[in-house]
Amino acid sequence: MEPFLQVYSNLKRRKDNPAVKIGRFGVNRKYQKTGIGTELLTYIKMFFLDNNKTGCRFITLDAYNTPETISFYEKNSFIFLTETDKNEKTRLMYFNLKRFADSANKT
Ligand SMILES: CC(C)(COP(=O)(O)OP(=O)(O)OC[C@H]1O[C@@H](n2cnc3c(N)ncnc32)[C@H](O)[C@@H]1OP(=O)(O)O)[C@@H](O)C(=O)NCCC(=O)NCCS
Repeated sequence: MEPFLQVYSNLKRRKDNPAVKIGRFGVNRKYQKTGIGTELLTYIKMFFLDNNKTGCRFITLDAYNTPETISFYEKNSFIFLTETDKNEKTRLMYFNLKRFADSANKT
């Protein structure tokens, strides 16, 4: 698990973390498992990186704690923030936009 708060605090020594939260993300049942959710997440990631218009460093969300939803977000490179919510209905996950930008710049 990447220590989200620690990574950012060490970089900037700030108490706050510039993040955007995705809420109520969903794909119509008829079209699930056809790649639409992944495409939408990629679009959102690119939107926040384009010209760094928002200054956001992380995307966060509260994922339904079901194998299908967790697997979906893990396949899209979201990471658990903590293990303390592993038995809760939702789990806090985040995506590191800077890491994504750095790897995109290398290719
Ligand atoms: C989670 C959700 C947004 C994913 O969107 P999607 O377009 O279906 O996902 P993709 O086709 O891009 O990705 C598919 C992957 O997601 C996971 N997945 C998504 N739905 C699944 C299902 N019904 N059963 C099993 N795996 C599922 C699997 O890991 C799958 O990978 P695989 O095809 O290699 O098995 C969508 O299934 C959904 O709306 N689910 C109900 C609402 C929900 O859980 N929203 C998230 C709120 S936090």
